[in-house]
Amino acid sequence: MVKGTYYFTKGFMWGTATAAHQVEGHNTNNTWFAWEQEESRILNRDRSGLACDWWGGRWREDFDRAQASAQNAHRLSIEWSRIQPAPDRWDENALDRYREMLIGLQDRKMTPMVTLHHFSEPLWVAEMGGWENEEIIELFTKFVEKTVAALKPYCHLWVTINEPNVFAFNAYIDGVFPPGKQDVKIALDVLRHMVLAHARAYHVIHELQPEARVGTAINYRGFKPASQWPWDRWMAKLHHHLFNNVFVQALHTGTFKALGKKQKLDRVSGTQDFLGLNYYTGEYVRFNPFAPDQFFARRFFRPDSLLSETGFIAHDPQGLVECVKWGNQFGVPMIITENGVEDREDVLRPRYLVEHLHALWRVINDNYPVEGYFYWTLVDNFEWERGWSQRFGLWELNQKTQARVRRPSAELYEEICRINGISSEVTARYAPEAMQTLFP
Ligand code: FCB
Repeated sequence: MVKGTYYFTKGFMWGTATAAHQVEGHNTNNTWFAWEQEESRILNRDRSGLACDWWGGRWREDFDRAQASAQNAHRLSIEWSRIQPAPDRWDENALDRYREMLIGLQDRKMTPMVTLHHFSEPLWVAEMGGWENEEIIELFTKFVEKTVAALKPYCHLWVTINEPNVFAFNAYIDGVFPPGKQDVKIALDVLRHMVLAHARAYHVIHELQPEARVGTAINYRGFKPASQWPWDRWMAKLHHHLFNNVFVQALHTGTFKALGKKQKLDRVSGTQDFLGLNYYTGEYVRFNPFAPDQFFARRFFRPDSLLSETGFIAHDPQGLVECVKWGNQFGVPMIITENGVEDREDVLRPRYLVEHLHALWRVINDNYPVEGYFYWTLVDNFEWERGWSQRFGLWELNQKTQARVRRPSAELYEEICRINGISSEVTARYAPEAMQTLFP
């Protein structure tokens, strides 16, 4: 065994990522709140409720935790329904709260990254048809303008829209996110509207703040054919194209290309200063003529894969290498805006963490430009339609008492952030099962 340390580049951003609806609590004016009130939409009928009580001020103690753990950045999101509770009403107090949070990060020497849309919209927007109605492009632009004008002294890294691909698929094909539709045509319209909304936001942010860096966070999923049979290969390609490519390619080329249709969009090409990558897992794709609603395929994890606690994620660190190599074709620097695993007992997480970071180190060492890494997430939070069943936090949360308990992975991540690298000593201490991969 060789002892040593895999060092990351100087100035590398180390943080965690969160989203407003998942951590703030008492978000009662958005699409997810309404969704939570409906029967059988959320596993175990869970509700976001108080969440991590950030709106009540507990962001302070959580930012303290992050800072004390040597993190130098944090990604959070702004809840549109708080800033603009009604079409003709802006809530300056809500903007003040976010201002305070961003100053809170600055005071702790942590670089803020702000997401402007992370899966939730105000109810009044939903009533107008949400992302199906192209009027949302204008509405979103106004919200962005207002928010960025107010918060620009404290932030220069903006993610316009989180995972447009997951949003469009989950809300309009699988139907597990609000508004729960299953219609491919609508899903593609939504995705196109998101491309246009992103591009408008990009230009508005740059007008307000020329030094801003603006991007999106795309969810990259590796799709491998279940066999070498041409139909399986074709299906894997189709899934890769629709899920991974369409959105980012449109931002790069200015052409929205999906299912045989091509549309040239104005002022869209070149509207990203960085590419945010959310990577969790990859899966296999098998042709299935009986699944038209799933684009004629069944997707699955290989039976021999190492699965996470709730079977949500198959451990595939090599997929992160493929993700970065794929992302590099768009010619802008990359940031890993999310990566993590749900694991209440912290059994797989230490290994997941070091093996993914080692994979990331390798690809950075091959000169792929990656500027930072945000673990998902700091403290257990409300995981959308999976409710509280999934525990992604470095800290465990008791929602009732609001007590936080540090998991061993929090210490491991702290060691990594502190030395800006992964050492054999730290790996042996926290993730001995990864020694074979990292220090053979
Ligand atoms: C991503 C979401 C994030 C969180 C993680 C587990 O798709 O962006 O909000 O739910 O998955």
